[in-house]
Amino acid sequence: MRVLVIHGANLNLLGVRDPGVYGTQTLAEIDAALVALGAELGIQVACAQYNGEGAIVDALHAARGAYDGAIVNPGAYSHYSYAIADAIAAIGIPVIEVHLSNIAAREEFRRRSVTAAAAHGTIGGFGADSYALGLRAMAKILEK
Ligand code: DQA
Repeated sequence: MRVLVIHGANLNLLGVRDPGVYGTQTLAEIDAALVALGAELGIQVACAQYNGEGAIVDALHAARGAYDGAIVNPGAYSHYSYAIADAIAAIGIPVIEVHLSNIAAREEFRRRSVTAAAAHGTIGGFGADSYALGLRAMAKILEK
């Protein structure tokens, strides 16, 4: 099984960006932990980060046929990108949306995710563990 993890805008700055909200782990550390967890679960994990909306759409399209599932944190695009929502809905593989922070408990504009509506499910509020929980949930989906 192959799973692609897509990190969206500004997530390359994890570790230095608002650590009180997003934690102190860097993106490289999160990715390494996901690859290791994937090995335990029998899943080959690939990770990528893009700041551009179009690049995320392209990565989702490329995942079709190449991966069995995708885990996506679109960052702020979650709140308004119908293009990413459409791409998630179009690719025909399960997509789980994750957020480090609990977006439901944050500023008004972060409380709604338009991309989550297209995803299989959403996990948020657990810091870097949101990704690990997302990968475990994906393993269950792919088992079936
Ligand atoms: C985020 C939440 C978004 O509102 C924010 O713009 C991010 C990170 C999260 O993982 O908690 O960049 O997606």
